[in-house]
Amino acid sequence: MSAPRRVGIAGVGYYVPERVVSNADLAQSLDTSDEWIRSRTGIRERRIAAADQAASDLGLAAARQALADAGVAGESLDLVIVATASPDMVFPSTACLIQNQLGAVKAGAFDLTAVCSGFSYALTTGAQAIAAGEAERVLVVAAEKFSGLLDWTDRATAVLMGDGAGAVVLTSDAPRGEILASVLGADGTGIEQLGIPAGGSAQPATHATVEQRLHFMKMNGPEIYKFGVRIIGESVAQALAKAGLPESALDLLIPHQANIRIIQSAAKRFNLSMDKIVVNIDRYSNTSAASIPIALAEAKQSGRLQPGMIVATVGFGAGLTWGANILRW
Ligand SMILES: CC(C)(COP(=O)(O)OP(=O)(O)OC[C@H]1O[C@@H](n2cnc3c(N)ncnc32)[C@H](O)[C@@H]1OP(=O)(O)O)[C@@H](O)C(=O)NCCC(=O)NCCS
Repeated sequence: MSAPRRVGIAGVGYYVPERVVSNADLAQSLDTSDEWIRSRTGIRERRIAAADQAASDLGLAAARQALADAGVAGESLDLVIVATASPDMVFPSTACLIQNQLGAVKAGAFDLTAVCSGFSYALTTGAQAIAAGEAERVLVVAAEKFSGLLDWTDRATAVLMGDGAGAVVLTSDAPRGEILASVLGADGTGIEQLGIPAGGSAQPATHATVEQRLHFMKMNGPEIYKFGVRIIGESVAQALAKAGLPESALDLLIPHQANIRIIQSAAKRFNLSMDKIVVNIDRYSNTSAASIPIALAEAKQSGRLQPGMIVATVGFGAGLTWGANILRW
């Protein structure tokens, strides 16, 4: 058997909707305040998609930017993977909508659901397709329109999430962003902690499910908080060990943007100053699967990613699920 091929990130892109909604804007209709949201979460504002923008529209904009950054045409893609928990519709997949718009005529396309860990899962899956020799060029998109999944009368969840998309192009000949190691995990005993109860086959949409607001995100915030703090440390440490690197080798951490206090605890765990962690939760809130690739693209575009840097990305969320990837930039 031949050794797996190396895989790198040839291009990155992101898109966030134009409309900015501040904490003060939310406080006009919810019993909350800028002070509470800022101090408990680190969020100042979020982007909210227009009524006529679906997840595929956000993802398409991010994908086009990533393809341009990589200098790769849509027709040359072998695979399109879209990580999303807010697909345009139950089916067909959002990946097929994006594949069609890109003219990626020779690509297979599928959606992947791992919620806030979606990018970590999709990056790992896409890289494995190339490493195994099944694909040469893979587009990984994470696109979320969580504003359509939120109960805007529930202050405990409505203030936390926003809309956006990020994308990367993976190839076997990319000079940067080599994926050195990946760790994926799941703990289905945590299914009750975070989810949308109705709208699937267990509880199809009825008048009653709509009246009971069961089509919106429900969350046990404190439990998810504790899980996030624990799992960032465990999964990044495991992934570094798998890559054969000491924890001290870590130059930059790109964590899922769920709560600034969870991110600060990761800084402490890995002895990193905050300038070694990419943070944009203040501007975008939690964009679920999209948060890591948006932060990665911003880091690249602002020159924060320097050749040779060891970078860890880490996601966690509903399922429960988690995933960490170690990259050499
Ligand atoms: C949601 C979260 C910010 C809540 O912070 P917390 O410090 O744990 O706050 P609690 O849930 O204990 O609530 C404290 C109080 O604030 C209130 N509160 C909740 N949301 C509020 C809001 N938006 N504005 C004002 N008060 C709020 C609660 O009702 C509670 O009041 P009580 O003490 O009178 O009952 C925090 O638990 C969290 O970030 N969890 C992880 C969320 C996450 O990452 N989700 C996505 C996973 S990928």
